[in-house]
Amino acid sequence: MKKITTETIRRKKNSDEPITMLTAYDYPTAMILDEAGIDILLVGDSVGMVVLGYEDTTQVTMEDMLHHVKAVTRGSKRSLIVADLPFLSYHLGVHEAVKNAGRLIQEGKANAVKLEGGIEVVDQTKAMVNAGIPVMGHLGLTPQSINQLGGYYIQGKSEEKAKKLIEDAKALEEAGVFAIVLECIPTELAELITKNVNVPTIGIGAGANCDGQVLVTHDILNLYSNKSPKFVKEYANIQEIITEATKNYIEDVKSKTFPSSEHVFHIDESVMNLIIYGGNN
Ligand code: KIV
Repeated sequence: MKKITTETIRRKKNSDEPITMLTAYDYPTAMILDEAGIDILLVGDSVGMVVLGYEDTTQVTMEDMLHHVKAVTRGSKRSLIVADLPFLSYHLGVHEAVKNAGRLIQEGKANAVKLEGGIEVVDQTKAMVNAGIPVMGHLGLTPQSINQLGGYYIQGKSEEKAKKLIEDAKALEEAGVFAIVLECIPTELAELITKNVNVPTIGIGAGANCDGQVLVTHDILNLYSNKSPKFVKEYANIQEIITEATKNYIEDVKSKTFPSSEHVFHIDESVMNLIIYGGNN
């Protein structure tokens, strides 16, 4: 079992081997996905929505991220672990960005960090890379900017916006990112960006011509909402399984069929007698 590194990910682009990435936020999920062979585990700030019940990702804090990153790194042996830098953890200047990225690596034991944005985050990206921190970019639909974007809509459909995304991708590549997530952009544009940068692109709602794919694990397992975006493929319905199991448990407890003989512990009869009758029996 060889640990996946940023170098492994870079090589996959060159050998045209698709990169697989899923989100993980806790120890058991990290263990399962890691052992199943996923290349990258992303501790995404989507944790805020799908695990913590926040309205959007702008509410996620560094402490939230560290808590979940630590659990994931404890559960994973092989996958590359990328931790999201949450909203406002890298916007207040280069110093703050490096400090927070450093915490995700040093305290959380993540292997790399991800931040959202293009040209506007180039300085922070360069500073992190200079500090020895591998950085993944994230372009297109950037959920931390939800209040500017006005909703979770497809991005880069006009000539101007598409050109800006191409420039952003180039700027991130020059700043030293090892990969770029392309979220919710037209498949043709994602293909063009993928051909125009030397670092791998990892798509989510960006079509089949990226160098890899990422999805939110809670979406592919239907564990969060019944209304997943169009680009999600559901691979299992865990909600149904949990509901069914819970109903069965309730029924068993109410009908006293659980616990049954195989679930209980026994005490020696002579000890029991001593407890009930004392030493006089
Ligand atoms: O937070 C997250 O889960 C993400 C993915 C959607 C790429 O950033």
